[in-house]
Amino acid sequence: MPRPVSVRYRVSPTANALAASAAEFFASAVSAAVAARGVARVAISGGTTPKAMFALLADRNALYFALVPWERLYLFWVDERCVPPTDKDSNYRMTKEAMLAKVPLPAAHIHRMEGELDPEVAAVRYEAAIRKEFRLEGAQMPVFDLVLLGMGEDGHTASLFPHTDALTELGRIVVANHVAQKDTWRITLTWPVIDRAREVAFLIEGAAKAQTVQDVFCGAYDPEAKPAQLVRPASGRLTLLLDADAASLLPRPAGRDAAGAGSSFVATMEI
Ligand code: 6PG
Repeated sequence: MPRPVSVRYRVSPTANALAASAAEFFASAVSAAVAARGVARVAISGGTTPKAMFALLADRNALYFALVPWERLYLFWVDERCVPPTDKDSNYRMTKEAMLAKVPLPAAHIHRMEGELDPEVAAVRYEAAIRKEFRLEGAQMPVFDLVLLGMGEDGHTASLFPHTDALTELGRIVVANHVAQKDTWRITLTWPVIDRAREVAFLIEGAAKAQTVQDVFCGAYDPEAKPAQLVRPASGRLTLLLDADAASLLPRPAGRDAAGAGSSFVATMEI
């Protein structure tokens, strides 16, 4: 049986408000980790949704830049496409252009996945880099302070796609995953690693994902078909950062109308 989890979902009225809510969440998770342990080790996702949040975090005129202790942040990726770091599809490139090129994050603290290499070689090297950074021994697994996930309309998260081999990987930290439905390979953290993180959050935007959000968080448990359901953090807590469109089919707090437009709300559900 899947582990019971308390899901706290923060719903923002618009995509811009969602980016601000996510930037605030990121900054407070990073500064809380630094306050508690001196450093923050964070794994981020790619795709398109996080871009606006990254840009806000890097904007020195906005609220969030000053809230992030950049020199104490260690950045990792949840997954990467098998392309060079200069490629338009590179998650690293997207993050660099939106944020890394504009913030005082020490280069040695930026651990990108080497999408330009053979996928299996890149996965083994990235696992070795994580083991070194977290000073792991034997079968120890890393405990990230924050893992920020996205979700596809097909219910995938990280590069854990439906009906792919990586879904049954329990011992490794990073794997190369063949994604037949995209005729490509990806490099991805495994879900047992994601579930060990102190904070795990999904950042999901848009009406096109509303049905998948409902299916994943309120529907029957079928992680082979909806891999995002494998995300059940050991902490028992999971955060969803959503815009009103993506949250449109989720339960609403009493007294809040179907639209929920024009205001943010926070609600909790047990899954
Ligand atoms: C990737 C991601 C992936 C992403 C989802 C959602 O490399 O594509 O890490 O898991 O989070 O596909 O992507 P969008 O934000 O572009 O919808």
